[in-house]
Amino acid sequence: MYHKLLIYHDDARLYHEILAKRLPRLEIRSATRPEEALNFIEEAEIILTWETPDELLKKAEHLKWFASLGAGNEHLIHNPLISESILFTKTTVYGEMMAEYVFAYLLYFGRNLSKHFEDQKNKFWDRKRPERLRGKVMGILGLGSVGQEIAKRGKQFGMRIIGLKRTPERMKNVDHVYGPQELKKMIPTVDTLVVALPLTTKTHHLLREEELNLIKDGAILFNIGRGKTIDGMALTRVLKDGRIKAVLDVFEDEPLPPESELWNLENVIITPHVSGINLPEEICEEFVRNYRRWVKGKPLIGLVDRKKGY
Ligand code: OXD
Repeated sequence: MYHKLLIYHDDARLYHEILAKRLPRLEIRSATRPEEALNFIEEAEIILTWETPDELLKKAEHLKWFASLGAGNEHLIHNPLISESILFTKTTVYGEMMAEYVFAYLLYFGRNLSKHFEDQKNKFWDRKRPERLRGKVMGILGLGSVGQEIAKRGKQFGMRIIGLKRTPERMKNVDHVYGPQELKKMIPTVDTLVVALPLTTKTHHLLREEELNLIKDGAILFNIGRGKTIDGMALTRVLKDGRIKAVLDVFEDEPLPPESELWNLENVIITPHVSGINLPEEICEEFVRNYRRWVKGKPLIGLVDRKKGY
């Protein structure tokens, strides 16, 4: 018997093409608009999507597995139309790409790249000493699939890695894992603070002015998880002091409004939520592995814990 998969996304055709080659025994429909999904949604057993309108979900009577294309699913997790009896998975392939993002900017600062670009324009020969990553302390808030990839690369660069986890436990590539109560103890010890947290009731505004003020002078703050894990007003105030640098990929409001003061700060790098962007080939690779597990009744990769919220 063929299983039925609905892919609902702007790039649905791309995913369809890849998956049809890899899983020929799966009946696949792709849709970019609700009308295109209407005559299939009732039969669909699996939906692969980032967002599906409720008007469609209401009709998904045979849905067994909701496979999200995203890593953070706060917009879907509490939707009553995706009931507890339906398996809910997130995509866990973004870590490597997001680690590349973090190290791109750490090396950009450490190797004085903006200065060398500028000097080249001016034909100016100035051998400024780089700063090594070796020996620096990186703190990672959120040690899920993303945090762990960053930790692994940090270790390869000779950094000391510390992290914070809801339930602290020993972890590979992490020298010390703190619990949530120890956030204020951890922050002042790091040279780089990477926020890679999902958005839940517990992580909403986890970093307020008080915590941001504990960051060491000259340290670099990254936010690559969700904008709302940091109080945006407090963040702007702290960054305006110029005491720390920040590389921000996510914001409380996206797109970041043109009137935001963050755009103009020299100590801030802004990117438009691209640290982990969905690459269909990589996502389909994980989906194929998961589909094979699903057929065999094995536990799925990236199963979301609805109580924890991620
Ligand atoms: C995601 C994202 O969570 O794009 O997948 O931020």
